[in-house]
Order: sequence, then structure tokens, then C-alpha cells
Amino acid sequence: MELKVLVSDPIADEGLEILRKEFLVDVATELSHDELKRKIPGYDALLVRSQTKVTGDIIEAGERLKIIGRAGVGVDNIDVAAATRKGVIVVNAPEGNTISAAEHTIAMILAVSRKIPEAHASLVGRRWDRKKFMGVELRGKTLGIVGIGRVGAEVAKRAIGFEMDLLAYDPFISSERASELGVKLTSLDEVISKSDYITVHTPLTKDTVNLIDAEEFEKMKPTAYIVNCARGGIINEDALYNALKSGRVAGAALDVFVEEPPLSSPLLDLKNVVVTPHLGASTEEAQVKVAVTVAEEIKNALNGRPVKNAINMPYVRHELMTILTPYIQLAEKLGRIGSQLVSGTYSSVTIQYHGEIAEKEVETVTIAAMKGLLENVFGEGVNYVNAPVVARERGIKITESKSETMEYYPNVISLIIEHDNTTRMVSGTVVGGEDRIVQIDDYHLDIAPTQNMILAVHEDRPNIIGPCCVVLGRHNINIAGMQVGRIRQGSDALMILNIDTPITDEILEEIRSVSGIKSAQQITL
Ligand code: NAD
Ligand code: MLT
Repeated sequence: MELKVLVSDPIADEGLEILRKEFLVDVATELSHDELKRKIPGYDALLVRSQTKVTGDIIEAGERLKIIGRAGVGVDNIDVAAATRKGVIVVNAPEGNTISAAEHTIAMILAVSRKIPEAHASLVGRRWDRKKFMGVELRGKTLGIVGIGRVGAEVAKRAIGFEMDLLAYDPFISSERASELGVKLTSLDEVISKSDYITVHTPLTKDTVNLIDAEEFEKMKPTAYIVNCARGGIINEDALYNALKSGRVAGAALDVFVEEPPLSSPLLDLKNVVVTPHLGASTEEAQVKVAVTVAEEIKNALNGRPVKNAINMPYVRHELMTILTPYIQLAEKLGRIGSQLVSGTYSSVTIQYHGEIAEKEVETVTIAAMKGLLENVFGEGVNYVNAPVVARERGIKITESKSETMEYYPNVISLIIEHDNTTRMVSGTVVGGEDRIVQIDDYHLDIAPTQNMILAVHEDRPNIIGPCCVVLGRHNINIAGMQVGRIRQGSDALMILNIDTPITDEILEEIRSVSGIKSAQQITL
């Protein structure tokens, strides 16, 4: 079936061209919620900017949906939690519009300081009024930046050019980064009370909604200007309106609003407000960059390749991915084998890394093991995106442990599964790019895992392996490989047979009835 991409907001042609080379692309902007919900079941990918609201019910309706691409930074228009639950990757283009958003912020600071929109409107209305539009200089003023990530940092660099003093509040950045940027990192209170300009550059989250509310306006200088080119709602709009109306603050410059378009907002009636219709990223350069980035991400995801900017999956650098890929494949196989060693679900799972692999960032490898382990029990809907959520929701405790000490192999991954008071274990390694199973429970082995295998525990004595092979031969089942591991001579032994085709339950029963066989099961990868 041909893969299909739905583009529901306008994005640059350069991005569409990348997608059209490989997929069937439909561009349908201005869709209502219900129209999008009716359309989405036919698509493998959805590409949006900020206008389309990708709600949980739309994601649920996306029967074949694999990825949602956001041509921009903010994903607050996408229900990421619903996408994660459904195993849909959400990617954004976090860097492409940073400079444009920062330049727009500076433009807005200048516009409100020099009353440019009002002066422009006055002159085009054929009035030559030079007294009415007295402004203020930026030099020597204090700019308070709330949230100094990508955009905030670029605003800081530009403000230094205007000889402004910089304060910043951001609980997640280090003082080293702040001093590198030439800003004094301080409390929100100090930013609020000491700044002449306060500009917000955080994402909109439950912690940042109404971050600047009536209480904060009370602490501001009466000459302060407020700037929001990030997200509507970080500054409470009612409190802002009251502060502007009463002269508690001097003015505001707003590119974003709680409701967009904000056509009924009283803020639009105020003289000391400069507004733009969410134009921060609206430059030719930014739109090409975000469209190309997100189109490449969709292309990679639909072709089964890793993506760089996934919001709901760990990011793995390209060089690290090259090292990790064989271990990701191994871990998924260990997970599948592990899930067949136990029946039912698990209470806890430990993924242990030994040797050189323990020095790496192995989050993706752990997720691969979880995916392998869970999909047998919970179905094919489990994938790299939702495996941690599925485990959490089912109350399965996942622990990752690392030891750089090497045992028999330079690298070993072990999966230890606890269920119903029993513990099962499977370990593997990668040798020359090929994966090997090196231990199951207490039995040491060295066998390449294949699609179909038989695992049989038997007494460690002659005349058991032969009769098992005879059973398989009689049923025309070809044996491609074989290994026996035992704890010590005379104790139980574990035989693994790689077979070219799966066997029926009846054949398995025949193997189980061979004298000396204690248990036998088929493992399918
Ligand atoms: P970013 O993730 O690089 O930076 C956000 C910063 O906010 C981070 O440093 C983070 O530590 C900080 N932060 C998070 N929670 C905080 C809190 N409670 N208090 C203080 N700081 C907090 O994001 P970015 O790319 O710089 O984008 C910033 C904002 O600008 C986002 O909301 C984004 O959607 C918006 N944006 C808007 C436009 C536009 O068109 N107007 C364009 C680009 C970006
Ligand atoms: C963003 O978060 O990237 C901006 O809001 C720009 C946009 O509207 O796409």
C-alpha cells in the first residue's frame, strides 16, 4: 500500500517536494476538526504548523498514523500523551525558526518603544504629528528574559548589541551557560521587579501557564514593557489587560494569544499595545528550514529509519546510533525470547549491561528490549514510542543496571524477568556485528538466534539429543544449528535447536515424550 502524508497547514514547497518524491501527499488546509477526523484514517503521516489542533480523538482515529510532524517548535497544539499511548511518533523542527523568532522579538521591543505602528497609522492617515510619538531608548535599560533556551539566548545576543543589561530566569539552565550568554541568572521575582522590558521565551506547559499573573504585574516598574513572542497564556491576558489599562505598566508587544485569532480580545483596543498575528516564525528562511527538517524526519520515520527530533522518543546521535544499532536488534530479540520463557505478564524486568556497552547511553536499547518483551503479550501496537508507557500502565517495573566489568564477552546484555515468584534470564552479545545468545537461566551457550528455535531441558546423559533429531527428521524439519549447555556434568542440560520451519504442537509433544526430556518449547522471533 502506498504511504500517504496529509499536510493540514501551509508549509513551504521545499518540504512538500521532499515528501512528494516518495509518498502520496495531500495538502488540505483549513479543515475543521470533524473534517480532519474523517480524513485522518487514510494517512500514515500528518504534517502541521500551529493552526491544526491535533487532539486525542483525531490521533485515535488515525488507524495507520505513524508520525505527526510539526513544522516549528511548540507542540502544544498536539496531544503528545495521546500520540505516545498510540505509538505515534511526534517530531518537531526545533531550530529552524529560532533566529526569526528572536529577530521578531527585537522588532516588537523596538516597535513598542518607539510607537512605530501608531506613528505609521497616523502618517498614512495624513497626519504629521511628531510630539505624540515620543519613545524611549533601549541602551542602558534592563531586559529580563524568562526562559533562556534557543530563542531566549538569541534575543540576549541581540540585546547586548543594543547595550542593554540582561537578567534571566530559567530554572533549567546552568550559571555557566548564563555567563557565556552575558546574562545574570536570577529569580523570577528579581526579573519581574528590576526589568524595564520583560520578554517570555518558555514553552507553554502546566508550570508556565499564567507564569506572569496579577501578582507579578503588581511588582513591575510602571515604566515596564511586556513582550510575548512565545505562547499565549504564559502571561495571563486579563491581568495584562488590567495592568495596561490602569497604567500599572507602560506597554506590551504581543505576537501570540490564548485564543488565535484573538479577534474579540480587549487587548486589541488598547493604545499601548503592539500586536502581530503569530508572525515570529514567518520568514522565508525559517519556513524553508522547518519544512525541510520535518519532511526529512517524516521520510526517515516512514522508511523505518531513526528520527532526530522526536518529542516522545529518546534522541540518539547519529554516531551513537551506528554503534547501538546491533545492540538494539539484539535487545529486541532478547525481549522476544524472554517473553516466551514466562507465561502471562511480568512484575519486574531488569536490563543489565556488562562491558563496553555499559559506558554508552543505552536508553534506546532498553526500550528495544521492552518492546520485544511486551509485544508478545500486549500485541503489535507496542512500539519504540509507547513501550515505556505500556510497561508503566501495566505496573511492570523496569530497571536498567550497568557494570563496566567484562565477563566472558566484551559486551553482554541480560534480561532478568520476575514473574510469579520465579526469575528467568536470557543474555546475549554481539560478535562481529552478529548477535549470539550466550546464556539462558544458568545455562551457558553460544548460538545465533533464528526465527524458529526449540528449547529443551533434558537429563545430561546419552541418547536424548539423537531421538529428538529423529522426531524432527521424521517430520521433514531441517535442523540448521544446535547447542547444548549444562551447569555441570550429570546435572540438567539445555538444548537449543535452530530449525528452518516452525513445528506443530503435535511435533512438540513428540519431543516432550522422548525419554529424558524434562520440558520443551518452541521460541519464535
Ligand atoms: P527552548 O526549549 O529552546 O527554550 C525554552 C526555555 O524555557 C528552556 O531553556 C527551558 O529551560 C525554559 N523553561 C521551561 N520551563 C520554564 C519555567 N517554568 N520557567 C522559566 N523557564 C522555563 O524553546 P525555544 O525554541 O527557545 O522556544 C521558546 C518559545 O517560543 C516556545 O514557546 C516556542 O513555541 C515559541 N516560539 C514561538 C514562535 C512564534 O512564531 N512566535 C517561533 C518560535 C518559537
Ligand atoms: C513555533 O512554535 O515554531 C511557532 O509558533 C511558529 C509557528 O507558528 O509554526
